[in-house]
Formats: sequence, C-alpha cells, structure tokens
Amino acid sequence: MHDDIQEILFSEEDIARIVRDLGERLSEDYRGLNPLVVCVLKGAAPFMSDLVRRMDIALEMDYMAVSSYGASSQSSGVVRIMKDLDIPVEGRHVLIVEDIIDTGLTLQYLMDILKRRNPASLKVVTLLDKPERRTEGLVPDYCGVRVPNEFVVGYGLDYAEKYRNLPYIGVLKREVYNA
Ligand code: XMP
Ligand code: MG
Repeated sequence: MHDDIQEILFSEEDIARIVRDLGERLSEDYRGLNPLVVCVLKGAAPFMSDLVRRMDIALEMDYMAVSSYGASSQSSGVVRIMKDLDIPVEGRHVLIVEDIIDTGLTLQYLMDILKRRNPASLKVVTLLDKPERRTEGLVPDYCGVRVPNEFVVGYGLDYAEKYRNLPYIGVLKREVYNA
C-alpha cells in the first residue's frame, strides 16, 4: 500500500465486482438504445474504460472536461466546459459516467447544460457516492457504492493530480493534505 494511504476502502477485486454488476444492469437497461456514454474527465476515465468493457451492447463513447470556477477546493457549482463532446446529443440516450458525486453541484450544472441540447434521455452512473455531502436533490440513477465523508483517492481520483493510478480506492492520510 502507498505510504500516503490510511486505509484501503475498495481493493482491485472489489472494484472489478462493482463495475461488473453495474455493466450488467446497464446492458439490460440500454440494450437496443445505442447510448452515448459520456466520460467526465479526468477522474472517471479508468471507471469508464472498465465499465464499457462490461457492457455487451452497441454504444458510443465521448469525453467531456469541465473545470470549476475559482481556486477553492469547495465546488462552486459554476463550471466551465474545457472540452465539449464531439458527438451531438440531440435525440440520444445519454449516460454520464462520474467517478464520485460529492455535493452534486458540478454534476447538476453539467446535466442542465446537456438537457438544453434535447437528449432522448439523460442519466448518471457514478462509481462512488458521498450522499452525506449532497446540497442538490441529486440522486444518481446508478451508483456503484456509497462512501463515508472522507477524502478518497485512487482508480482515477486524485489529490493535486496524484494517486490517479492507484489500482485501489483508499482514504488519503490527513497529514498529506493538511501539510
Ligand atoms: P461536487 O461537490 O460538485 O464535486 O459533487 C464533485 C467533484 O469533486 C471531486 N471530489 C473528490 N475527489 N476524492 C477526490 O479525489 C474525493 O473524496 C472527492 N470528493 C469530491 C471530484 O473531482 C468530483 O468530480
Ligand atoms: Mg470528477
């Protein structure tokens, strides 16, 4: 285990099982709909990559990058699109893939933008959910697993761009971000 990690919450094997279960549910629900599966960069990239390989249906993939305004670590809910989708959303069954939903502000803003483009449907799958922190009334349509209100890293999730490549998800030691 990495020295900066206090505790592993989900091992590689745990993650594989969670992703496989989500992939099976999504395959059933989206069969025949050719969904547009949208990865929110960068954190959701490993999850997206594993998830689509557990979906044995026709689908298309696209990527979006957003950034919060301001330097605060607290999400402001106002996001700027840094990279937009290449594929048009109108009339498509859009599935947003997120790494974690915290307050829900970022995702709410993103969903409002995409809704205005008239998709046939718009749903969210998140690997991790921190429902304690939710300020919006947002409930993900598909959720891998709930996490306690701790700062977690690994499997795409970062602190200052580090730890994204850890194959497991763990709680970051407080001394790392309080230093
Ligand atoms: P909101 O609050 O808008 O923010 O739902 C969601 C974004 O905040 C980041 N986030 C985390 N990143 N470990 C991380 O590495 C965490 O525990 C964590 N909680 C929130 C993340 O970028 C997410 O998309
Ligand atoms: Mg994110």
